[in-house]
Amino acid sequence: MSTIKVYAPATVANLVCGFDVLGMALHRPDDLMTLSLRDEPGLVIQHADEYQLPVEPEKNVAGAALLALLEETPHPVGFDLTIEKRIKPGSGLGSSAASSAGAVVAANHLLGNIFSKEDLVRFAMNGEKVASGVKHADNIAPAIYGGITLIRSIFPLDIVQLSGPPLYVTVVHPQIEVRTSDARQILRKEVQLKNAIKQWGNIAGLVAGLLKHDYALIGRSLEDVIIEPVRSILIPGFDEVKKGSKEAGALGGGISGSGPSIFMLSQEERTAQAVEQLMQQVYTRLGIEFRTYVTTISYEGVRIEK
Ligand code: HSE
Repeated sequence: MSTIKVYAPATVANLVCGFDVLGMALHRPDDLMTLSLRDEPGLVIQHADEYQLPVEPEKNVAGAALLALLEETPHPVGFDLTIEKRIKPGSGLGSSAASSAGAVVAANHLLGNIFSKEDLVRFAMNGEKVASGVKHADNIAPAIYGGITLIRSIFPLDIVQLSGPPLYVTVVHPQIEVRTSDARQILRKEVQLKNAIKQWGNIAGLVAGLLKHDYALIGRSLEDVIIEPVRSILIPGFDEVKKGSKEAGALGGGISGSGPSIFMLSQEERTAQAVEQLMQQVYTRLGIEFRTYVTTISYEGVRIEK
């Protein structure tokens, strides 16, 4: 096989309380990527979308991830990559991670799966470094492993796959751009002990709630006393969406990654749809363009077209 098509999933990083350590993969939206082996070494990138992202491999997130992978291949190879981004950059839905993860999963498949998933996360984090200036794996790991992942450590990598009960995810993406690098810059560098205690209680509660399929515990644990109070200021309508979604029956939710997308988890599909309606009402009233999705967790991660 010399050409492969993959669908790289959107991801929700942080899962409210787990800044940089928790993330989950979604069924929708996703990016479509086509990768082919070249006759000679080198990396040629093309875009099949409107975003005018860089084509120079070292400036492109998928390119940076592939360059890291190419450094460790046993013999020199080259790739042609075409990216059709359907996850808008700057959406908070792991757009850069989808490109990096999709590229390395596709390359590994063409090379006969010589690398482990952990290796692929390591390569793909180079893409995140290009996108936001820091290596973080809370979008990359769920995109590559699928499902919900805990990144206990990135140096050295320690990724834990978490199981959970069936959940519906409602996402609203107000069409404003928040750059992850900006959304990280505004965070305070110190945390008060009383807030840290609340936060790690919530992370432990969320993980336990997922493993025990305890919906009420999941809902109670979706609270962020450290990051959300600072970042939510960048997202018009945030408080209204959060309050209204809970009134509509959502378990809870918050900022997706670094925003501006907001996600809410629900136990029932009809609740997730009621939450979508509420989100639509809020942004229609605010006069801000938006997109919404009602979707579920993708336990497959990057999907290879058969
Ligand atoms: N954990 C990262 C952040 C995810 O919140 O900055 C960015 O998508």
